Amino acid sequence: MRRLSALLAGYDQVAAHLRGHWRHWYAIVQVHGETRNEKPYYRKPSPAEISVQVGLVLTRGATAERTIPFSLQQTAGTLCCPRHPLTLAQLPVSSFAKGRSMSSRNGFIETHIYDYILANSLRDRDELKRLRQETRAMPMGGMQISPDQGQFMGLLVELIGAKRIVEVGTFTGYSSTAMALALPADGRLIACDVSDEFTRIARRYWQEAGVADKIELRLGPAVATLDGMLAAGEAGCFDMAFIDADKENYDAYYERCLRLLRRGGLILIDNVLWGGRPANANEQDESTAAIRALNAKIRADERVTASLLSIGDGLTLARKR
Ligand SMILES: C[S@@+](CC[C@H](N)C(=O)[O-])C[C@H]1O[C@@H](n2cnc3c(N)ncnc32)[C@H](O)[C@@H]1O
Repeated sequence: MRRLSALLAGYDQVAAHLRGHWRHWYAIVQVHGETRNEKPYYRKPSPAEISVQVGLVLTRGATAERTIPFSLQQTAGTLCCPRHPLTLAQLPVSSFAKGRSMSSRNGFIETHIYDYILANSLRDRDELKRLRQETRAMPMGGMQISPDQGQFMGLLVELIGAKRIVEVGTFTGYSSTAMALALPADGRLIACDVSDEFTRIARRYWQEAGVADKIELRLGPAVATLDGMLAAGEAGCFDMAFIDADKENYDAYYERCLRLLRRGGLILIDNVLWGGRPANANEQDESTAAIRALNAKIRADERVTASLLSIGDGLTLARKR
């Protein structure tokens, strides 16, 4: 209890600080539970990682516009977003005030430049827009890829003439919808996820976007799903793979997807910049360590030609030789 009230006092300070930067917005700090990990869908936290999970719910009048999940680490005493660790002083409050969550944008470039990119390159669709809005209001909504990244991935599908895609980490369906829209009518996408709750939303949007016939959902731990596909003789049968699930398994996904791809096929790996953490030697948590190790491995991996791009939260393109 003592610990909880100490943290809550910290939240009051945070809320007061943020409120001072907003004109039409204000923050409500919600405490969901003392033992909830910032990545509840990935793994159980170790005792050292246990923190109180909070969400800043930005509201206009009585309507909640979006929820930004944050976690206040007891030890560090800083406010952290799951994807973008920031100290309080560094919070880009102006981008919240414009009503955008941090992880659905590129956190590595200035807000006005990102706005310019969206205004001058995004060809939005009604279903994708609504899917972003619905996902943004969810506590874990920050896991969704950004709209410019979705469009870029669609372009890659067209560029390599992909017909068969495997996706690891589907969530509410943004990336799968964006890629499936770019597939030809006889194209197929296998979508892997563990969550029935999240993918129920995905299935609804696949229907609305008219791509449901192209997508097959495989519910279950993705390592087992990919192993099953390899055992069924599907090695070399895929043109493209997108990896965006639990970071600790990234290397396992990479190795399996590499086998599933044909020569010349493309693996896309999301979150390879992980909010900048891999570049900070002090960040040694499991997810960061896994991403850092895979980035280093791919750089030296003669089986692929690769490039790490700073779009979204960092996206690696690795073409199988
Ligand atoms: C970052 S989200 C994916 C975001 C999605 N690509 C999008 O565009 O919105 C990660 C997803 O991976 C799923 N996931 C986590 N661990 C998994 C596992 N071991 N096997 C399969 N899926 C997993 C989660 O349920 C979650 O939906």
